Amino acid sequence: MTTQTILLTGASGGIGTAVADAFAGDGWRTILCGRSRESLESTAETVSEAGGTPVVRPLDVRDEDAVFDTLLETIPETLDVLLPAAAVMPHAPGERPLDEEYYEDVRTVLDTNVYGLFTVLREALQFMPSDGRVLVPSGSVARDPKPGMGTYAPSKAAAEALARGFAIDVDQTVGIVDPGLVATALTGDTGRDPTDVAELFQWAALECPAEKLDGEIVGLREWKQATR
Ligand SMILES: NC(=O)c1ccc[n+]([C@@H]2O[C@H](COP(=O)([O-])OP(=O)(O)OC[C@H]3O[C@@H](n4cnc5c(N)ncnc54)[C@H](OP(=O)(O)O)[C@@H]3O)[C@@H](O)[C@H]2O)c1
Repeated sequence: MTTQTILLTGASGGIGTAVADAFAGDGWRTILCGRSRESLESTAETVSEAGGTPVVRPLDVRDEDAVFDTLLETIPETLDVLLPAAAVMPHAPGERPLDEEYYEDVRTVLDTNVYGLFTVLREALQFMPSDGRVLVPSGSVARDPKPGMGTYAPSKAAAEALARGFAIDVDQTVGIVDPGLVATALTGDTGRDPTDVAELFQWAALECPAEKLDGEIVGLREWKQATR
């Protein structure tokens, strides 16, 4: 059987690392991308322990040429699953009302969470077969405003809109996966253990019917209903 390939941006921590471990444990080839080589090497260690042979590739998703070169140099034949998890929130959740947001942070957040997401999808889809799947991680703040989330919340709303737009325009399945609150650097380590939600992403990639994912949001409820 051909080895399947998943590329993850934001693989240097949190949800990306947990999902990479889970896929590697099932024999997938993992391509790990993020800005920090040191953090990626540490993810690669746990991925190797899970049984995989990861490819480590430092990458800033805001650099579209680097994104294309990375894909060209790392994708063996085709890319089966894409997890574009790279995102930033330059403040603790709840601590940055929009009317106090720093202009510099607005640019960084939109460049990373929206432009960077667009770039990764735009370039990666060229390497994906028509049954390939893109899992865009997002959360309820994209839809239900909560105080103090700064530009992060609108950036995730834009990320969800991008996912729906690509879903309409391309053959591949492009969906939004909402894992609830997960304890990562982004959330100040509040929420579920990332390893507990990795299976949700695997289900979305492998078992969720394409029509339930394409342009849609799947989360813990849909996963539990489908698997219990
Ligand atoms: N945690 C939650 O509760 C939650 C809930 C719903 C959705 N999400 C989404 O899930 C995804 C992963 O978040 P997380 O919670 O796992 O946060 P995290 O641990 O902070 O991971 C974010 C990752 O993005 C990478 N990154 C940031 N800027 C980048 C850039 N310009 N280029 C490439 N990589 C970049 C970071 O690595 P480097 O610093 O090494 O680049 C890091 O590995 C995000 O899209 C987030 O919005 C999170």
